[in-house]
Amino acid sequence: MRTRYNAAITALGGYVPENVLTNHDLEKMVDTNDEWIVARTGIKERRIVNDAHIATSDLAVKAVERLLNDAKMSPEAIECVIVATSTPDYIMVSTASVVCEKAGLVNAWGVDSNAACSGFLYALTLGASLIEGGRYKNVIVIGADKNSAIINYEDRNTCILFGDGAGAVLLEQTTEHTGVIDNVFRTDGSGKEQLIVQAGGSMNPSSIETVTNKLNYISQNGRVVFKAAIEGMTQTCNEVFERNDLKSSDVNWLVPHQANLRIIQAVGEKLDISTDHVKVNIDRYGNTTAATIPLCLWDYKNDFKAGDKMILTAFGAGFSWGATYLIWSKLRG
Ligand code: UT7
Repeated sequence: MRTRYNAAITALGGYVPENVLTNHDLEKMVDTNDEWIVARTGIKERRIVNDAHIATSDLAVKAVERLLNDAKMSPEAIECVIVATSTPDYIMVSTASVVCEKAGLVNAWGVDSNAACSGFLYALTLGASLIEGGRYKNVIVIGADKNSAIINYEDRNTCILFGDGAGAVLLEQTTEHTGVIDNVFRTDGSGKEQLIVQAGGSMNPSSIETVTNKLNYISQNGRVVFKAAIEGMTQTCNEVFERNDLKSSDVNWLVPHQANLRIIQAVGEKLDISTDHVKVNIDRYGNTTAATIPLCLWDYKNDFKAGDKMILTAFGAGFSWGATYLIWSKLRG
């Protein structure tokens, strides 16, 4: 009989820029206030790159370096890298290529995956599939976004929400029943106008006109996204519960995408998972798009024990959304 392999998370790394952008800083930039931002989103501050020469790959490389250091592994040992990002360094040349070069991953091939805020979850399943198929012993999956590159700091509807950051996990082959177990994902392009960067791609190449009309920045219909996020995350989590015969009380940790504390709380309530089992770091980093979930795993890794049952869930532009069932594994190092 063919050996069944699973993909276990065995090491993590995270990085956020040192530069802090507080709600009080934003009060000086747009018509907003700390009270509104905290009450409506749960965000107190976010980290923003303040050096024009730092790109998404640089955030990702810092996370990978921390991961390799913790794992006590050399960069040459890595076989594959998947970078989830919607703020790639370039339109052409994958961010994964730049990460492989800068981090010295000389034996790895790399590819980008863009599913906005769901990017990390999708990439985690892609990476896990390579390992489950038996051909790969390890894959690094990164979620990294320099959102400040596509934010209009004159638009209070979006500039208060987003931050920059990167998180990375090492997936390794195991024959134990641990790691990435299952997922339910959905993608529906009919939601694309609700949360989008209109220009800069082949549909609407960048021009003086697109820049003048601020089409190279994120725009969103917050209320529509808010409602769809709660519905979509809750529904896919419930499907994962059903497929895996899980009850809310079996779940040790819910690690949701960090877009809005009210969304996180609503999903937790609907799933009947109490707040002390729900991981939150949005207050410190804001929404770092593809980086929120790996940053949260990295931030709280000391709270997790091998064997813990975890549900990761995300919703983002596209629309793209879903939930992943993960069993926490023993970490290297
Ligand atoms: O990660 C991918 C997915 N993204 C999301 O999940 C984001 C989902 N959406 C949200 O998180 C929320 O919709 C927002 C935080 C974006 C907005 O919160 P809201 O509770 O939906 O507010 P709203 O858009 O309904 O606006 C309420 C009021 C409006 O004023 P009026 O019309 O009631 O007078 C807005 O103009 O708040 C006003 N407002 C603000 N006030 C102070 C909107 N933005 C701000 C602001 N500061 N930054």
